[in-house]
Amino acid sequence: MSTLAESISTTPAQVPRVPIPPKGVDYRGKIVLAPMVRSGELPSRLLALHYGADLVWGPETIDRSLIGAERRVNPRNGTIEFTRLPSNGGRVEKAAKASVIYRLDPVREKGKLIFQMGTANPDLAVQAAKVVAGDVWGIDVNSGCPKPFSTSGGMGAALLRTPDKLVSILETLVREVGEPYQIGISVKIRILETPELTEALVTRLVRTGITGLTVHCRTTPMRPRERAIRDQLRMVSDICHKAGVACLMNGDVTSRDNGLKLMEEYGVDGAMIAVSAEANSSCFRSEADGGLDPWRDVVYQYLKFCIESENRYGNTKYLLNMLIPGKVKEFKDAKLSKTYSDVCRRLKFDDLVPAAIQLDEILDLTHKQELGDGEQSQTVSKAVQNAKENNESARAAGGGSTRPAKSNSSMNNVGPIRTSSIPQPAKAAHPASVSEQATTTVDPTVPAAEVSQQSSVAV
Ligand SMILES: Cc1cc2nc3c(=O)[nH]c(=O)nc-3n(C[C@H](O)[C@H](O)[C@H](O)COP(=O)(O)O)c2cc1C
Repeated sequence: MSTLAESISTTPAQVPRVPIPPKGVDYRGKIVLAPMVRSGELPSRLLALHYGADLVWGPETIDRSLIGAERRVNPRNGTIEFTRLPSNGGRVEKAAKASVIYRLDPVREKGKLIFQMGTANPDLAVQAAKVVAGDVWGIDVNSGCPKPFSTSGGMGAALLRTPDKLVSILETLVREVGEPYQIGISVKIRILETPELTEALVTRLVRTGITGLTVHCRTTPMRPRERAIRDQLRMVSDICHKAGVACLMNGDVTSRDNGLKLMEEYGVDGAMIAVSAEANSSCFRSEADGGLDPWRDVVYQYLKFCIESENRYGNTKYLLNMLIPGKVKEFKDAKLSKTYSDVCRRLKFDDLVPAAIQLDEILDLTHKQELGDGEQSQTVSKAVQNAKENNESARAAGGGSTRPAKSNSSMNNVGPIRTSSIPQPAKAAHPASVSEQATTTVDPTVPAAEVSQQSSVAV
């Protein structure tokens, strides 16, 4: 195996470059969605991509939560879900429901998704990374989260104080995951208190074999509302460039156009956006292409992606709170909503209602509406009944239906998901490209139950 020094290639201008592995992605020239716990679930990432984000980071996922997780393909929408059963404090429950720890779309996120991990241990990092490595295009280590849940375990920003450990995690991931799976490993850091401290850290990190480094231009104690400090940025990007590592900037980047301007000003390779994307993901669209969309259009598109992705409703509501301006009437409407069909009706997205009703059934939300609104719940139940009857009669007619030949398990609640094994490191096809052949993109206006049978043979 060649050493890092041997593998660094040089361009004609003698600028070194850590090679981007065949199944990885180059961060250069990219405006990307930041990793965000809660705000970075699949529908938010699809929304960012819809509006032109070049790459998307998933929310930080802790190594231990992923180790031992089961990988399955959702036959209704083709998404890949990593799940595990709750431990219930050692109690054995008869019908414990597996919870989805991480969900991705192998088609629409193909070549775009970077998985971010919270870790403080090279061995656990490798074990966890292997669970997802075949389905993502890069693995990023979070070395910037200042929250106690992260730092108390030695993860996140705590790693900035333990550079030996951080270097060891990155080197081990490069060797044991990046190389066999042919994807890039990267790191996201914050600046330290002085340029000298940051310089010493970055100089070590860029020698680990990583392909990219993101620098959040705030120190660990700084609050999100404090203005980003950019006076260390050029120094960080210079160190990265000398080592052939792509450098992304983060902190107060407000839009694609703003990011492109800052990239030029500070000589960085790309820019990462968090809170501006949380507020309106159309910030990824340049002015020349139309600029910001009105909130209603963004929310409609977001709900469409939530329904397609079968996103947890609590998470959907959380993001709706961010996307709908607090001063408009619909803000309160969305807050009061209990189900997908409820919110689609309240926001007058009537064409989404049929798919929303189906999803409420799948997610077991219908009873919530019954508790809250007797009259409306009758309508819902009737609509669901109709949908079920339509399915039955179409099946009985047998002609031209794309519905699964067997009974609609999602509606019958009998384990609609098929399990597949974790993809092995392969020199051959990226597993995601295999999934792609067998998945379909779902139109949310088509009831979820009508997803093509093809998708149910994904694994
Ligand atoms: C809701 C939320 C969740 C976040 N979760 C993560 C995370 O999982 N991993 C991470 O490295 N940073 C996380 N961050 C930090 C952002 O990725 C980003 O570094 C920070 O918000 C600065 O970028 P901004 O100025 O564009 O907001 C989070 C930020 C927010 C607002």
